[in-house]
Amino acid sequence: MNIAIITGASSGLGLEFYKEMQKEELDEVFIIARREDKLREHMEKFGKLPTRIIPMDITLKENIQRLKEILDSEDINVKFLINNAGFGAFGSVLESDYSTQGAMVDLNVRALTEITSIVLKHMNEKSYIINVCSIASFVPNAYLTVYSSTKAYVMSFSRGLRQELKKRKINVTALCPGPMATEFLEVAGIDKGVSKMFDTLPTTKPSLAAKGAIKAAKKGRAVYTPRILFKVYRVLAKLLPHSLLIPICKC
Ligand SMILES: NC(=O)c1ccc[n+]([C@@H]2O[C@H](COP(=O)([O-])OP(=O)(O)OC[C@H]3O[C@@H](n4cnc5c(N)ncnc54)[C@H](OP(=O)(O)O)[C@@H]3O)[C@@H](O)[C@H]2O)c1
Repeated sequence: MNIAIITGASSGLGLEFYKEMQKEELDEVFIIARREDKLREHMEKFGKLPTRIIPMDITLKENIQRLKEILDSEDINVKFLINNAGFGAFGSVLESDYSTQGAMVDLNVRALTEITSIVLKHMNEKSYIINVCSIASFVPNAYLTVYSSTKAYVMSFSRGLRQELKKRKINVTALCPGPMATEFLEVAGIDKGVSKMFDTLPTTKPSLAAKGAIKAAKKGRAVYTPRILFKVYRVLAKLLPHSLLIPICKC
């Protein structure tokens, strides 16, 4: 049975990935998030393909084990793994709650790593992993320090894994969007006027980011950054010293 797995499919970019997956030749799509009602609503509205709703908090060890048991107990071939669930929190490390900072690492880093590890055993040739990263991975962003650090991990993990999986012909792509008008901003506490950076930067449509990422994955790209401006930023971040960029790129 050929399937896609999307984490964080209850809103924003994850929902757009779910819509895109309807165009693929798949037997089932597994959608994961904590809000079951939202997942059900999206399935009823957009689900042309059979859909399995897996309501779970992926930061809980027992849920990762549950997911592993589901995958191990069936004849499953994962064609697409879309590691999309993630959140950010605006504020200084000093003033932010330590548990929020830890929760960011748990979701953006640990859960993504553990899910990839258990799913890999169910992937064959011509399959795709899309890890949702961010432009925040290019240069450390002060006041989004923990978030940008987690996304730097996602970038590094994606590139290393990509090399490991070359022989198995499984492509790994890191999607690096700039700001998108999703629930992310509210969760992160980035209202209008809070961050000059976020107020100034242009937004990317989640639907375009999802479409573009799938296209890039099928072309075998390592990194996909929507919008020319952010593509240029990625190149500059490679060329210029970070000591110069960090004070400019603070949120
Ligand atoms: N929006 C931006 O400006 C932006 C820019 C660059 C990168 N990104 C990245 O894009 C990805 C998607 O974010 P988005 O913009 O679409 O924001 P979003 O609408 O807030 O989506 C986040 C998703 O993650 C899920 N999630 C959160 N905690 C979870 C947990 N513990 N277990 C399972 N699922 C969990 C949420 O669902 P539940 O609440 O139902 O669990 C939701 O479906 C994230 O990785 C984010 O870092 C966003």
